[in-house]
Amino acid sequence: MKSRGKNIVILAIESSCDETAAAVILGNLKSKLPRFQILSSVIKSQIPLHQKFGGVVPEVAARAHVQNILPVVKKALVDAGASLTPNPLALSPVIDYLAVTSGPGLIASLIVGTEFAKGLAYALGKPILPVNHMAGHLYSAFGHLPSIPSLRRPARLWRSGGGNKGVVKFPVIALIVSGGHTMIVLMRDYYNYKVIGSTLDDAAGEAFDKVAKLLGLPYPGGPTISKLAESGKSTINFPRPMLNSKNYDFSFSGLKTAVYYHIRDYPLPSLSLGRDRERLQTTANIARSFEDAVVDVLVSKTLRAAQGHKAKTVTLSGGVAANKKLRDTLMVNCQRLHVKCIVPPARLCTDNAAMIAIAAYFKLKNGFQPVAYSQVKADSSWEI
Ligand code: KG4
Ligand code: ZN
Repeated sequence: MKSRGKNIVILAIESSCDETAAAVILGNLKSKLPRFQILSSVIKSQIPLHQKFGGVVPEVAARAHVQNILPVVKKALVDAGASLTPNPLALSPVIDYLAVTSGPGLIASLIVGTEFAKGLAYALGKPILPVNHMAGHLYSAFGHLPSIPSLRRPARLWRSGGGNKGVVKFPVIALIVSGGHTMIVLMRDYYNYKVIGSTLDDAAGEAFDKVAKLLGLPYPGGPTISKLAESGKSTINFPRPMLNSKNYDFSFSGLKTAVYYHIRDYPLPSLSLGRDRERLQTTANIARSFEDAVVDVLVSKTLRAAQGHKAKTVTLSGGVAANKKLRDTLMVNCQRLHVKCIVPPARLCTDNAAMIAIAAYFKLKNGFQPVAYSQVKADSSWEI
């Protein structure tokens, strides 16, 4: 099954929501510590398509995945200098394994990626691994670490940013915050993990998106709110749901409702009266106050989990991890507690296929046997 000795090449496909993505990684299955290198990562975002609807329209997303998947996979192969089948005239690495996100996510979108990957696996006679999207987010935190030696000279794109040097020390407390999920995961080592807290209602990203809608801001709400929040002041003391609860669970729906009542009781200054500037500042203040409340809850509960489990490392991942305020606040507070904090670059936080390839690599390294292509099925509610 393995070619070129201990090194293997994985082509991963991700299409669980509104990004069509493919990536190639090179990994070593025999090394004591994980050893891999991202060779390419291509993401085709559908944001402009969904923006006019104010959110992701599943039918539109699935159709766009159908159109995008082939060019995206092709580009990932070209960027990596890899090929699907051996070419005697070229020394390019050949794909050994296929990996695909088969859940959780939008079912029609998942089916596009899953069936495409199965078709490739069947035609090429290659093994295939189904990967859980949230496991992808979990492992994305290790995607750029210098402590995980690369197999080639690192491409500049993937070289680590500051602050993440050294080996990963366990236990790890991982905060995963995305559009559909908010969870705290305890990792005892690279291969053993369990969810110790999750959201009881809206996910953090979902709250950002819904509050943006209330403020009349475009989809996706997270980046828009965080940009606006930079010029805002924290003038409103929004609730911090479940901040003091004894468990590690979250709830963001009450916070979203508090923003709704605030706007109802103190309407935004009207544009038609020429109060544009005043309206912008008021919106920015609400955005900032809301962001502060979310960050406060996420960081406090993560740190409490870290202390409760004597964690040596805290990781942050998922789309909301692109939020600068969250990244900075978590890092500063971890430093204060002398806990190492790993925050991957934003391109590894929002949906991408490199994280799916990395999760597949860890699965293989842990002895997981690829399944027959006919056994891989999209499952919209697959739990991590
Ligand atoms: O992980 P992801 O790309 O997709 C899912 O698996 O859901 O996360 C998307 C979510 C969206 O809700 C989006 O608004 C949020 O991540 N997001 C952000 C930021 N960038 C993306 N939220 C807050 N601040 C950001 N800068
Ligand atoms: Zn995601």
